[in-house]
Amino acid sequence: MHIWAVANQKGGVGKTTTTVALGGLLAESGARVLLLDLDPQGSLTTYFGHSPESMPRSSFDLFQPMADVSRDALQQIVLRTAYQNLWLLPASTALATLERKAVGQEGMGLAISRTLTLLWDDYDYVLIDSPPTLGVLLINALAACELILIPVQTEFLAIKGLERMLHTLGMVTRSRRKPLRHVLIPTLFDRRTQAGMLSLRRLRGTYPQEVWRSVIPVDTRLRDASSRGVTPSALDPGSRAVRAYGLLLKNLLAGDYLASATS
Ligand SMILES: Nc1ncnc2c1ncn2[C@@H]1O[C@H](COP(=O)(O)OP(=O)(O)OP(=O)(O)O)[C@@H](O)[C@H]1O
Ligand SMILES: [Mg+2]
Repeated sequence: MHIWAVANQKGGVGKTTTTVALGGLLAESGARVLLLDLDPQGSLTTYFGHSPESMPRSSFDLFQPMADVSRDALQQIVLRTAYQNLWLLPASTALATLERKAVGQEGMGLAISRTLTLLWDDYDYVLIDSPPTLGVLLINALAACELILIPVQTEFLAIKGLERMLHTLGMVTRSRRKPLRHVLIPTLFDRRTQAGMLSLRRLRGTYPQEVWRSVIPVDTRLRDASSRGVTPSALDPGSRAVRAYGLLLKNLLAGDYLASATS
C-alpha cells in the first residue's frame, strides 16, 4: 500500500481537488484507492455527497487507542463511491476537537500511520486530504505517508506562505526513520496573466529541486465536477485540468516528476 498526503497550510490552493482528481484517475487505472478525509471541514466528504456534520463514524475513529480499533471496524467506516475501485473514509466535524490536543502528546502524531497498517492489504493507494492548519491532523498525515504532494497556487502570497509548510515538513522529516519525498505542484495556473507567469518563475527559481515540471491550469471544469460530486475525469476526461493531472500521475508513478530532472 502506498500512502500519499496532499498538504499545504495555506487554504484554497487545490488540495481537495488534487486528492479527488488523482484518486479518480488512479482508480480508473485499476488501482484500489482509498481517499481519506482528515480535514474537519470535510470538503472531500461533502464532495461525495455526505455531510461531515452527521457522520456517526469517520476518520475521527482512527484516533482511538489502537486496542479499540480493528480492521473490521475500519472497513465499516469506509464508504463506497459511485466509482469502481474508489472508496472514501469520511471526515466528521468532531475531528476539530483533536486539534486542541497537544501535538507532542505521546503517540498522537502516529495514530493514522498505525491504524492504516490494518488496511495494508485492502488498498493499493491511500490519498490523504489534510486541513489547512498546522496541528495533530496535518502532522498525522505527514507522518503516515511516503510522498507529500504540496499544491501551490501560482500567486505571490501563496508562494510566501509556502515557507511555513516547508518548515513543518522539515520538522516531521527529522523525526522520521523512513525518507519522505515531497513535490510542489503549481496549481490554478493562468498563463494569460503576468502575475501567474511571474509566480511560476519565482517558484521554480526558489525551489528548483522541488517543483513538478508542469502545472495544473485554471479550469472551470474542476468546479463543475465538484458541484456535481463527480470526479473530474468522469465529468470531462479531455479537459485541460484532467490532462494535466494525468501527466502528474504518470510522472509520480514513474518517479520522474521534478523539473530539475529534465534540465
Ligand atoms: N485548477 C483549478 N482551476 C479552477 N478552479 C480550481 C482549480 N483547483 C481548485 N479549484 C477550485 O478552487 C476552490 C478551492 O479548491 P480546493 O477546495 O481543492 O482547495 P483546498 O486547498 O482543498 O482548500 P481548503 O484549504 O479550504 O481545504 C474550489 O472551488 C475548487 O473547485
Ligand atoms: Mg480542502
